[in-house]
Amino acid sequence: MNGQPPAPAGRVRRAPHVWCGWEAGGRVVRSARRAEGVPASPLVLSVLDRLDDWTTIDDLAAALDLPPTATRGVVDGMLAHDLLDEWVARDVDGGCAPLPTPWEAWAPAARLFHLATRDVAFGRPSADPPSSAADRPSPVLPPQGPFDVPLPAPRVPGALAPALATRRTHRRFASGAIGLGDLATLLGATFGVQAWAAAAEGPLALKTSPSGGARHSLEAWVWARAVDDLPAGLYHYRPDAHALTRLDGRQAPARVTMWLPAQEGYEGAAVVVVLASELARVAWRYRSARAYRVVLIEAGHLAQTFCLVATALGLGPFCTGALADTAIETALGLDADRRPVVYAMGAGIPAAGAWRPHEDRQAPVLTPTPHRVTPDA
Ligand SMILES: Cc1cc2nc3c(=O)[nH]c(=O)nc-3n(C[C@H](O)[C@H](O)[C@H](O)COP(=O)(O)O)c2cc1C
Repeated sequence: MNGQPPAPAGRVRRAPHVWCGWEAGGRVVRSARRAEGVPASPLVLSVLDRLDDWTTIDDLAAALDLPPTATRGVVDGMLAHDLLDEWVARDVDGGCAPLPTPWEAWAPAARLFHLATRDVAFGRPSADPPSSAADRPSPVLPPQGPFDVPLPAPRVPGALAPALATRRTHRRFASGAIGLGDLATLLGATFGVQAWAAAAEGPLALKTSPSGGARHSLEAWVWARAVDDLPAGLYHYRPDAHALTRLDGRQAPARVTMWLPAQEGYEGAAVVVVLASELARVAWRYRSARAYRVVLIEAGHLAQTFCLVATALGLGPFCTGALADTAIETALGLDADRRPVVYAMGAGIPAAGAWRPHEDRQAPVLTPTPHRVTPDA
């Protein structure tokens, strides 16, 4: 039960955040839970109009002036597209309504964006015409005024400078395992709770990266592939205990590309870490769709910390936004509505020789700037 009063089974209502709009094929209605819609026929619209609240099929049939069996057929079709919610009988007193997901607070904007960008067909040739080099936007802005104030060269003290100066995305790895100590450092320094702060709401986790409202919704799900003294497999990192919990019964994919589509370069990675957001942790405090933006921003903070720590350890890091969302969530047993994956990163032993971003391409010519961070600065 979720605290709602019991109601007879077999009632339906309009699902929250059903949208109607005009798309290529005509007028379409769709749930914010789904990327695809259905034609917005007059019948579909009148069903939606009449289902502000939980309603029996018989009452709906009477309102529509349709036989109950035909009404049930229409309702079933709409349920299949998540346009309606059904209050079903369960083996608890009076049945139970569908539990709201954290998205309800942020829908439709956040959820539509999230759904529209899930399970993208990475690596397939795009139907769009290729962009022309002549149209390429400049990588920097032109001067925004007549006067420049020249700045002294950056001076980064301590051990941060070498990590900043040498961090690169690695897609070529040497064979061999990374040490368990290095993995522990990588996870602890990036995701581990550094301190608990007493707050009126309860203890707040503080980590090496900032987090909006100290929600720290992003959990690290670890695919150990080649780590000394750690059986290969899937784990959850516990940021409070600084320990890995083995996910018994969960099978790692045969190849990295099953999680990171069309990214063959990461096949030699020793570890892949996927970040999934515990949305409820954020939605509990923030009721605006903007909170989802904050979740994504935080993923970037964590990935940068991860990449810098890996670089400091002499490992080759990477991060990628090209994820097979459903494949990852299914393998890890994550409820896509409550704990969606948002980002992935990993590390391995860098391939010998000079850094080269891609196996099948020449190393680009790098022209250092005078104001770059230098390890000895
Ligand atoms: C949000 C984000 C998403 C990225 N997605 C991918 C990706 O899908 N595949 C990939 O190979 N690299 C990905 N990268 C890495 C970039 O390609 C890389 O950072 C860029 O080429 C600059 O190289 P550098 O990291 O060595 O400075 C991503 C980086 C970021 C920040």
